[in-house]
Amino acid sequence: MTIDLRAPDERDLSFLFQADVNVGQEELRRVVDAGRVIVAVDETDVQGWLRWGLFWDEIPFMNMVFVQEHRRGEGLGTRLIQHWETQQRVSGHDSVMTSTLANEQAQHLYRRLGYVDCGCLLLPGEPLEILFTKSLAG
Ligand SMILES: CC(C)(COP(=O)(O)OP(=O)(O)OC[C@H]1O[C@@H](n2cnc3c(N)ncnc32)[C@H](O)[C@@H]1OP(=O)(O)O)[C@@H](O)C(=O)NCCC(=O)NCCS
Repeated sequence: MTIDLRAPDERDLSFLFQADVNVGQEELRRVVDAGRVIVAVDETDVQGWLRWGLFWDEIPFMNMVFVQEHRRGEGLGTRLIQHWETQQRVSGHDSVMTSTLANEQAQHLYRRLGYVDCGCLLLPGEPLEILFTKSLAG
């Protein structure tokens, strides 16, 4: 089954309102309108998405990448991330960033894709949050 990566349309948005629980609907619509969400869609359903913003109002920062559980391990997360990186390179950015909790599996995927640990946050009551950067040069 083919999975296309593209900007969300209105139908995808109602799915994202329910699925992307880390952000309120008003903010999510604003982020979608700003072109900062990519969805991975098969013939009928959203199978994954990536949402990003700008760190220091300057550096593209991946806030969320999610793949539906039954689709994991097939390379879709990698495709979403690489598609986003290409978009950012074409837009003239020379690096991107992301972060993950130290107890999350995604950190291994990020390192495999060339992300380098560049710091951490220790927020009260939270596990360590690892910051990553990746150069898009070359
Ligand atoms: C992280 C995530 C987006 C990866 O998506 P994916 O489509 O499975 O990614 P890929 O198939 O390209 O790569 C899979 C890698 O993740 C690992 N992985 C982590 N959880 C997995 C799972 N439940 N099923 C399969 N592989 C998993 C695999 O071991 C593999 O690592 P490797 O390439 O070093 O062998 C996905 O596991 C997910 O949505 N997780 C929940 C949300 C999350 O934690 N997001 C990241 C923080 S915002």
